[in-house]
Amino acid sequence: MINFWTYKKEYRKYRKKIINKIDKTISKGSIFFGDELKSFEKNFLKTNKSRYGIAVGSGTDALLISLMALGIKKGDEVITAANTAIPTISAIINAGATPKLVDIDDDYLIDLKKIQKEINSKTKVIIPVHLYGQSCQMDKLLKIAKKNRLKVVEDCAQAQGAKFKKKYLGNYGDFGCFSFYPTKILGAYGDGGFITTKNFELYKKIKRLRFYGIETLDKKNKFFNKYYSNENGVNSRLDEIQATILNFKIKKLKYSISRRRNLALMYKRYLKNSGLILPREIKNNFHVYHLFTVYHKKAQQIIEKLKKKNVTCRIIYPYPIQKMKAYSNLKLSKGDLDNSVIKSKGIFCLPLYPDLKYKDIQVICNKLKKILAEVS
Ligand SMILES: Cc1ncc(COP(=O)(O)O)c(C=O)c1O
Repeated sequence: MINFWTYKKEYRKYRKKIINKIDKTISKGSIFFGDELKSFEKNFLKTNKSRYGIAVGSGTDALLISLMALGIKKGDEVITAANTAIPTISAIINAGATPKLVDIDDDYLIDLKKIQKEINSKTKVIIPVHLYGQSCQMDKLLKIAKKNRLKVVEDCAQAQGAKFKKKYLGNYGDFGCFSFYPTKILGAYGDGGFITTKNFELYKKIKRLRFYGIETLDKKNKFFNKYYSNENGVNSRLDEIQATILNFKIKKLKYSISRRRNLALMYKRYLKNSGLILPREIKNNFHVYHLFTVYHKKAQQIIEKLKKKNVTCRIIYPYPIQKMKAYSNLKLSKGDLDNSVIKSKGIFCLPLYPDLKYKDIQVICNKLKKILAEVS
């Protein structure tokens, strides 16, 4: 069986080292806000070349806290892509705002031409989602934001280590939000997330917001860490165990991204002219291939046949946001969202993770090509 994704091979490789490190961490006596978190925050910022930032409990929390820090409230509108992960939308709604959806282009990213139509006096933020490991056209998007005086929160949950014009994502907007959900490019063995920012005032604010609004930065403040809240916040901590795992895994980030890129290249070579629409690396992009997403009109049939041949794929995502019951009572868009519907019916993701072998790609592609010949 070739699984769509598994962490087991990685864990077998590093098990002893990880267990030793976790044991040391727990033995030290702090579960939250200890040395591992401090050093992980430093490591992350250095790796991503970001100025300020904090670790939080999840990618969803990273988005929510960013929106809270920007003062988003009831009545405000936040623009994002129609084919994003549910958490992008739930963060907007939980911040009190209304999401406004924009259709996607042929690279599955927010269609820049369709953004302006959704902007009005209530619009406060755009959340570009760097889906599947590739960047939105940030130069053009920032121009739209600047012209309309909108803030930008980058959803980098699927794009850690990806670059646009040689600059790491998460450094373009007011905030960059990352996820350490296990399947992600930098995955914990549990939940986790990160927020980056260039702005020191915003940094101070998100640091309070993640911990009930308590002051933990300014030691001269008379209420420093005194069970005293300065502003209403949330509880969103990255614990020392996850920080230990992430400190270990972040050292391997470059290697795992280069593995992903090589495996993706191999897929592209084998599947050239196969009838599948393959993902491309857009100009000015450094794609990290969180997912290798292909398109075919008979996707469902192909997935089922691959499953019978012991290869599991996944559709990410089978439903655009506007098609979900949870959001059906919201007026989500003025424009058409046709492409998000068309794409959701034909996309599927092939297995891709750093410990997948080149031989596995060969096996998957041979099976896939036979199936493609059958269905066409
Ligand atoms: C695009 C996108 N945004 C946000 C999230 C939320 O991250 P988390 O699962 O860590 O809350 C995810 C991951 O699930 C995601 O893929």
